[in-house]
Formats: sequence, structure tokens, C-alpha cells
Amino acid sequence: MRKLVAGNWKMYGLASSLAEIEALKGLTGEAAYDIVVCPPFTLIEKAAERAKDSTVAIGAQDCHPQISGAHTGDVSAEMLVDAGARFVILGHSERRVFHHETDAVVATKVTAAHTAGLTAIICVGETRSERGDGKAIEVVGGQLRASVPAGASSSNMVIAYEPVWSIGTGLVPTIEQIEEIHSSIRQMLEERLGEDGRNVRILYGGSVKASNAADIFGAANVDGALVGGASLKATEFAGIISAAA
Ligand code: G3P
Repeated sequence: MRKLVAGNWKMYGLASSLAEIEALKGLTGEAAYDIVVCPPFTLIEKAAERAKDSTVAIGAQDCHPQISGAHTGDVSAEMLVDAGARFVILGHSERRVFHHETDAVVATKVTAAHTAGLTAIICVGETRSERGDGKAIEVVGGQLRASVPAGASSSNMVIAYEPVWSIGTGLVPTIEQIEEIHSSIRQMLEERLGEDGRNVRILYGGSVKASNAADIFGAANVDGALVGGASLKATEFAGIISAAA
């Protein structure tokens, strides 16, 4: 399957950071992978202008479940499309923890994203204590079943497995641990979507770097990566992308 490498800039990046996108455009000639950059809301329109006529796509990091309304400070999926986004990350653990987003909220946001024409990158992942209790598969399965709404398919959804204990810590699961979870996600997708479940891309996220990307991409059912910190430096991110070729 064609790999997808997405960078989640989180709450980092000013206009000066857009030069990173220029550097990535040079990589697109190989076209062996898809590249998505998800900057903060304030940079989406400018980022989309920079990425125009290249295979770098722009994504957002959240959207509101409704198309419009009296929701001070929120941004709808339709607005993201209007600004030039094609993807949106939903259900990231930082949103689940700091903004108390439940699976049901995530599913509603995914539906809003689909209605607007966005591809949703739906994040799931267990905490350190859940893994310690031997509940990783159960937790990830529960999140997946409840966060994926009706109407989701391989053409409008990507799943990102991000163990919470690996995000920004430098701790990476073993290849066996990654394969175990990714294969359980694949199985659940097939149960839910039938044959189309085989075509949904499943990304790994959590402390991915240029130095470990090739090993991670070589694991079964790993169809790309969702990268945080290492996506902020074009040379490091380019190293990860090249490992996907
Ligand atoms: O969404 C990506 C992210 O949570 C992983 O962050 O910094 O560990 O690559 P990082």
C-alpha cells in the first residue's frame, strides 16, 4: 500500500515555519508516498498556498462537529476546506485528555469532516498503565469501534495508532508490539468494512525519527506515520519520508 507520512505541528509554528514546506516539495518527485503537513489553524491557508501544485497536502488538527453556529473560538470542517485543507487529525490523545473528547465526540467530528469532504486521520492509543495492565488491544479496539462513524471508508479515513506513553517521550514500542496492535486494528477494520478494511491506511505515531522510521515502516500493517516533534525540522522529516519510499 502507498505509504502516508503526516506531520502534526501541534501548537508550534509561525509564518516563518512555512519554509519547511518548500523543502518538502523537493521530495515529491519520487511520488512513492503521500505527504501531509498539519500546521495550526492560523497557518493552514498560507501553507496550502505554499504547497499548491505539489503533492504535499495540508491538514488541520481538529474541527468542530457542526458546520457553523454560535461556537466562539471553534473552526468547522467546511472552513478548513475553504482554507485549503484536505485532511484533519481527530481524536488525538492530547484532545481526548485536555479537551475531554470522548469517542462519541470524535465520531461526530469525523462525520462532519466527511460531510465537508475531508479525510479524517483518527487517532487511537493506550496509556502506559493500560498497557501495563495488558489492556492495549482492548482499549484501542474500544476507541476504534466507537470513534469510526457510519460512512467511513478507505477513501475518507486513515487510522493512526499512537500509544500515549510513546508521544514525545523517545520511547517506542518494539516492532512486535506495533505489529500486534496494527494487526488487531486491521482485523477490526475488516470486520467493520469487509474487504475495504484492507485498504485503510494504518499509521504509527509516537517518537518516530529518521533513525527509526525504516524499521517501523517495515513492520506488517504499518502504512505510514503520524509524526510530531520530528516533523518540525524539514531535514529530519524528509529523512522519515525518504524511509517510506
Ligand atoms: O500526532 C503525533 C504525535 O502525537 C507524536 O508525537 O513528538 O512523539 O512524534 P512525537
